[in-house]
Amino acid sequence: MFDSEYDDCWLRYDRAESDRLDTYRRLCTHAYVSDAGPELVAVREELRRGLGGLLDREPHLWHHPPRSVEGFLAIGGPEELRPISETVDPEEVRALDDDGFLIRSVEWEGSQCTVLTAPADAGLVYGTFHLLRLMSLGEPIDDLDIVSEPANAERIVDHWDNPFRRKVERGYAGPSIFDWERLPDLDERYADYARLLASVGINGISVNNVNTRIPSREGANDATSEWEGWQLIESRNLEKIAALAGVFRRYGIELYLSVNFASPVLAGDLDTADPVEPEVAAWWERKATEVYDLIPDFGGFVVKADSEGQLGPYDYDRDHAEGANVIAEALAPHGGRLWWRAFVYSEHDDRAVQAYETFEPLDGEFADNVTVQIKNGPIDFQPREPVSTLFGAMPDTDLGCELQITGEYTGQGVHACYLVPQWKEVLDFDTHADGPDTPVKELLADREGQGITGVGIVGDDPNWFGHYLLGSNLYGFGRLAWDPDLGSEEIADEWTRQTFGAGDAGETILEILMESWQASIDYHTGGIGLMHMMYNGEAALENHYDPAPEEWPEYHGATEEGIGYDRTAAGSGYAGQYREPIADRYEDPETCPEELLLFFHHLPWDHELEDGTTVVQRLYDNCFSGVEAVEELRDRWQGLEGEIDERRYRHVAERFDEHVLQAKRWRDTLCAFFYEHSGIEDEHGRPPAV
Ligand code: GCU
Repeated sequence: MFDSEYDDCWLRYDRAESDRLDTYRRLCTHAYVSDAGPELVAVREELRRGLGGLLDREPHLWHHPPRSVEGFLAIGGPEELRPISETVDPEEVRALDDDGFLIRSVEWEGSQCTVLTAPADAGLVYGTFHLLRLMSLGEPIDDLDIVSEPANAERIVDHWDNPFRRKVERGYAGPSIFDWERLPDLDERYADYARLLASVGINGISVNNVNTRIPSREGANDATSEWEGWQLIESRNLEKIAALAGVFRRYGIELYLSVNFASPVLAGDLDTADPVEPEVAAWWERKATEVYDLIPDFGGFVVKADSEGQLGPYDYDRDHAEGANVIAEALAPHGGRLWWRAFVYSEHDDRAVQAYETFEPLDGEFADNVTVQIKNGPIDFQPREPVSTLFGAMPDTDLGCELQITGEYTGQGVHACYLVPQWKEVLDFDTHADGPDTPVKELLADREGQGITGVGIVGDDPNWFGHYLLGSNLYGFGRLAWDPDLGSEEIADEWTRQTFGAGDAGETILEILMESWQASIDYHTGGIGLMHMMYNGEAALENHYDPAPEEWPEYHGATEEGIGYDRTAAGSGYAGQYREPIADRYEDPETCPEELLLFFHHLPWDHELEDGTTVVQRLYDNCFSGVEAVEELRDRWQGLEGEIDERRYRHVAERFDEHVLQAKRWRDTLCAFFYEHSGIEDEHGRPPAV
């Protein structure tokens, strides 16, 4: 429970149901906990809160084995505490991955003991949260034998928070949670945020916007405009970062910083950032040493280069490997890592082809401590995209998959859209990189320096996410990054029961979550592969919420004859960047999956789909069914009045009213647009609002 006005999300720790309470009390009222590193402070604090709530009584935390008790918890390293070292083989524990943990029910000197141990202290934090989750879900804990290791070594949230003015790019939950002006003074909320992240297994956080140069005039987003903001990497700001690192460290979370490629100029006194210049390499080395002197366990840097106004190696006629390596080499002696984003596109015929064209030829050229961070799809976090062709195309490079937790294109802080099914689709996608059965999740798993990053969602709002239901996305992101084999429904169920309790309300909320993504795809895109039809806003970097298909002809290719983008060999050739048999499957409209059809093909409006329906009719139908689905979700939510607390009920009910209105706005705008271009009426006579 958080002792403040902001929401405690899924860490509510309500008193356990009576049929379990006795067992939980018997086994967990007493806990013998190691005193080792800073993570153990977090473990103790969490036990106090968690057990205090679940058992509805103060737990006793011991520095030695408790005597004459029926049961107790023992938490520590494999050889620290006798109840652990005498019951669990230390070799078994040491063989686990760094963040892994083991929880086992054993007998020790006449007591029933639940041991929780791990090769590193961070694992004890994850294990503690795991055990508390089991109890929050009302699971039995008297016969446990759990060995858990994260599939992905790196599980990082990337904040797009601007230090200057605390505005969060694509953030819909108020100002930045980080009060940069007041730092290094700390806010209690930072620790609660770290708890939320650690509770789902996240082990890294990059605290600031990848756009480290921000246009100062609204609407300006070009290289010639004035830029504002602070470079956090400047010496005067590093103590702010160090203060935050101290909070997150207790939860096993490493801190990263987004830095500008041209930092030697912007934050230093050089007049070049050319990566082959020795003075530039020396500047990065000095900077890395300065950072690591203050923060020895600092994670590393994130760089967005040559993209949307950010400076990069192209400014000096160098390639991206040359650009990345100079920074990576400075981090290497300190064990730091560079996350180099592949989101690079320029003036383009087809933006989709560019990341692959830029990066695939550089496979094997990046330093060992560089991770190339690739967005899930080739465009930009659209409601549904095909999976980026870079996955599977760079076997000799460490890769990260970048997902977006914040809902930039899925209704922002207003629409309920549970994104875990989207991420599952990406991670399960078979790249055929190594023959059949090489899904993205397998390419990423079990390799140091690889993993999953997610663009952050939280802000300073009391509910953290702008919308209570969207907390499921941060929860799901962490759970999936830890174990990509978990099911979407399983994750939603866990989140719902911890957040809203078991029972009928939980069932309804689970159904709402599970149906929300498909609805969003349908009314935002028509459901067969179109995308990027949103309004950009008068100020660049603003809207992305309202519909404006006429603004983006280059993305949907609508003409009087047809619609869609030809990405076959006759068009931009993007389909050919996949390995076989995917390339062939996408190349042919007969075999291309319907949900991606217009991403790969420009087809006549009256082209017949497999069931005989025409393209334009399917677009109309999907737009309408998307809205109907949202109305249904809203009605179900309204049925919960009185079943859950008024505050959360009312908040979400109001959001749903707006969600329905906005979904209709999308439907009407898109249907009118399809009608204007095709001249073909909806066969069900639903009038487009022309
Ligand atoms: C999108 C988003 C930008 C962001 C960019 C990125 O284009 O709209 O706000 O800066 O992605 O990922 O770098």
